[in-house]
Amino acid sequence: MLNMPFMRLKKVDISYKLENASVKAVRSFSCDIEKGDIVGIVGESGSGKSTLALGIMRLLPPNALLSAEIMSFDGKNILNLNQDELRRIRWKEISIVFQKAMNALSPVHKIFTQMYDVITAHSSDIPKGRAYKMLTELFGKINLPSKVLNMYPHELSGGMMQRVMIAMSLIHNPKMIIFDEVTTALDVITQGQLLDEIKRLVKEFGLTAIIITHDIGVVNEVCNKVAVMYAGELLEYGRVKDVIFSPLHPYTKALVKSHPDLRIGNELIKGIPGSLPDLTYPSKGCIFYPRCDVRLDLCKDVKPKISVLGDHIVKCHRIQG
Ligand SMILES: Nc1ncnc2c1ncn2[C@@H]1O[C@H](COP(=O)(O)OP(=O)(O)OP(=O)(O)O)[C@@H](O)[C@H]1O
Ligand SMILES: [Mg+2]
Repeated sequence: MLNMPFMRLKKVDISYKLENASVKAVRSFSCDIEKGDIVGIVGESGSGKSTLALGIMRLLPPNALLSAEIMSFDGKNILNLNQDELRRIRWKEISIVFQKAMNALSPVHKIFTQMYDVITAHSSDIPKGRAYKMLTELFGKINLPSKVLNMYPHELSGGMMQRVMIAMSLIHNPKMIIFDEVTTALDVITQGQLLDEIKRLVKEFGLTAIIITHDIGVVNEVCNKVAVMYAGELLEYGRVKDVIFSPLHPYTKALVKSHPDLRIGNELIKGIPGSLPDLTYPSKGCIFYPRCDVRLDLCKDVKPKISVLGDHIVKCHRIQG
């Protein structure tokens, strides 16, 4: 594991078995993440973002099947872990704030009780007084008043609730956090504040982060790298300044053009016509072929290889690297 990046995912495949078919939700996903990176994973609904996150955390449902060439994290192989090893890594080394996490809070218990449960799940001997002090300190770091500990979930605003969820993910001092659509349900101002805070937290706690979103504007605000996913495949990966400001893949170009804050000058905001392909039978050619406005004949049947242009990678027949 010498000379490995902080996290390496190589050729990750995840599918869900259904009664008569299998949904190939993530196919041959590869990317390297360095310590301190904030990597955005952006893509339309159904493109496999949460599936990938749950795969990294090994929290996939029983009908899911995961395989990979490499999954490594901080010098460890995290592909073939037994339950004990998983317990040591999950939450303590890599943590996740789930999509719609705030709905998972119990309405009948105060925030402290729910957070104490999370603490004692891994360190059963911590007395309540010490836990309360620890949580007050943690809340201070994410701009939450300690009185929130004595409140019920319904008494909190959406932004506060998400901060509670973020505090929960930080309890066991992980090295990496995956934020799955944590700002989606919030108004623009609260979203901006929370994103700023996430950025600050990552620095202050020396974290590495993955931010999952369908909004490329969010990526532009907080991330230094971005992975563009489409229908289970990685189409482009690299530094935000390269991928968003000099996109190479036609899908990324369309995604950027369809965002009001990222368009250039008076360019018209255009949507991307068409919808995601059927993932039970993904095409053998380029997965974006049916919606691509610059497609070539060979794109229909021949899968493009990954072109590597320095630290910018792209999967498109039009780009040679
Ligand atoms: N438990 C499951 N069983 C079968 N198929 C599933 C299951 N969970 C997800 N899928 C399918 O896998 C594909 C990827 O879903 P996933 O939730 O990972 O996408 P996503 O990019 O996170 O979307 P969103 O932006 O809506 O959260 C979709 O086609 C979805 O229907
Ligand atoms: Mg999702």
